[in-house]
Amino acid sequence: MNRLMLINGPNLNLLGTREPGIYGSHTLQDVVAEVKHVTDDFGYELEDFQSNHEGAMVDKLQEAGRTCSGIILNAAAYTHTSIAIRDAIASIPVPVIEVHISNIHTREEFRHHSMLASVCKAQIVGLGIKGYRYAALALLEK
Ligand code: DQA
Repeated sequence: MNRLMLINGPNLNLLGTREPGIYGSHTLQDVVAEVKHVTDDFGYELEDFQSNHEGAMVDKLQEAGRTCSGIILNAAAYTHTSIAIRDAIASIPVPVIEVHISNIHTREEFRHHSMLASVCKAQIVGLGIKGYRYAALALLEK
């Protein structure tokens, strides 16, 4: 399965205009392009998905567990609250790398805990949209 899945959660469709002091000026389209450079280099396909809905993200994780060899996930605010997304990750056999544009550990206390980290292969925080690129490299480099 030469295919990676990129999943972005709530409000990340607003990247570029959303709190630029925290998230920068890059758009979600830029994020996808950043990852696609890497997947193209490795001869992999990329599917990207964004949703503001928790259940839709669970559905996509389950699907990706059958159709992809790795998943890059920024679950946004659901990172801090969602047992359903945590359980979906635990239920699938493919590695998931958790990415956050900002450093969640230096922000408000409610962002310090990730419900997802313990079932993800790795967590990349605070590197802006480059974090997505590094996640793709980590999934694809042998
Ligand atoms: C985020 C960090 C989360 O705490 C926040 O709710 C987001 C974006 C990030 O990429 O830095 O929506 O996941």
